[in-house]
Amino acid sequence: MDIKSLTKKFSSKGSLEFRQQGDGLILLDIQNQYAHATVCLQGAQLLSWRPLGSTPVIWLSEQAVYQQQKSIRGGVPVCWPWFGAHKDDPNMPAHGFARTQEWDLAEVNSHEDGSTDLLLTLEGNKDVTPLWPYAFTLSLQMHIGAALEMSLTTHNRDKQAMVISEALHTYFQVSDINKVSVDGLDQCSYLDKVDGFNEKIQTGPLRIDTEVDRIYSDTTDVCVINDTGLNRQIVVSKSGSHSTVVWNPWAAKSAAMSDMGEQAYTKMLCVESANAAANSLQLAPGESHSLQVCYHVIEL
Ligand code: BG6
Repeated sequence: MDIKSLTKKFSSKGSLEFRQQGDGLILLDIQNQYAHATVCLQGAQLLSWRPLGSTPVIWLSEQAVYQQQKSIRGGVPVCWPWFGAHKDDPNMPAHGFARTQEWDLAEVNSHEDGSTDLLLTLEGNKDVTPLWPYAFTLSLQMHIGAALEMSLTTHNRDKQAMVISEALHTYFQVSDINKVSVDGLDQCSYLDKVDGFNEKIQTGPLRIDTEVDRIYSDTTDVCVINDTGLNRQIVVSKSGSHSTVVWNPWAAKSAAMSDMGEQAYTKMLCVESANAAANSLQLAPGESHSLQVCYHVIEL
């Protein structure tokens, strides 16, 4: 649907407004009594969520590029149907293709309590999505309120089983990476991507003082991002997710990314709710699976 039709169908002045950014990407700004949020229809990528009275919770790069077929640096990219590099073919796009496709905005519901729900969908089959020659429906539900809830559902409409890996690759905004620790991963084993995927065990809270790129396996626990600079905690709860990925590129890699910038790594931390590596999922024909997250902020 083009911006004119979307505006006619869903917009409401002051609370739901569409605009275009960069290379024609369509963004929806939501303002309700709990929060401000922005969602880009390409990739069904939430770009911001700021509960009223709070500092933004989701980080978006100041150097983000708004281009067709390119994932925006920040927000919540949807990694699907594979997480990271493709397992057999290094020429396939990193983190799959869902994050660079145009999704359909299927529903917008403004509730009486003042919160807003969105439903975005992406359908494919061997003709439409040759990189993933299965019939599927992917949907992302978002609930924008005092908490942010997202549910990513994969429905296998094919006659054969499919194996997927996936993540809601959330970039959280922090005051200063040196003032941050993450609870909830103690004693979890992880694959250390910056050390040849060696398997290691986390001990105690996670502090970040170098490049960190880890897939924590077999964990369904809540993570808490403690930010002493902002005197707040971000609580990351999830269900249907057995991996947690933590990523911060640190100085050299941040500087090398043109859509990130030299100091950007000090202001962000990705804590991604995932099913990756050994926690990849097999879906039988007709089967569905949902990965759900809920984020809320505790001001201290
Ligand atoms: C993380 C991966 O999830 O995403 C990292 O673990 C990767 O290895 C990072 O560098 C960013 O990926 P991209 O493709 O958005 O630059």
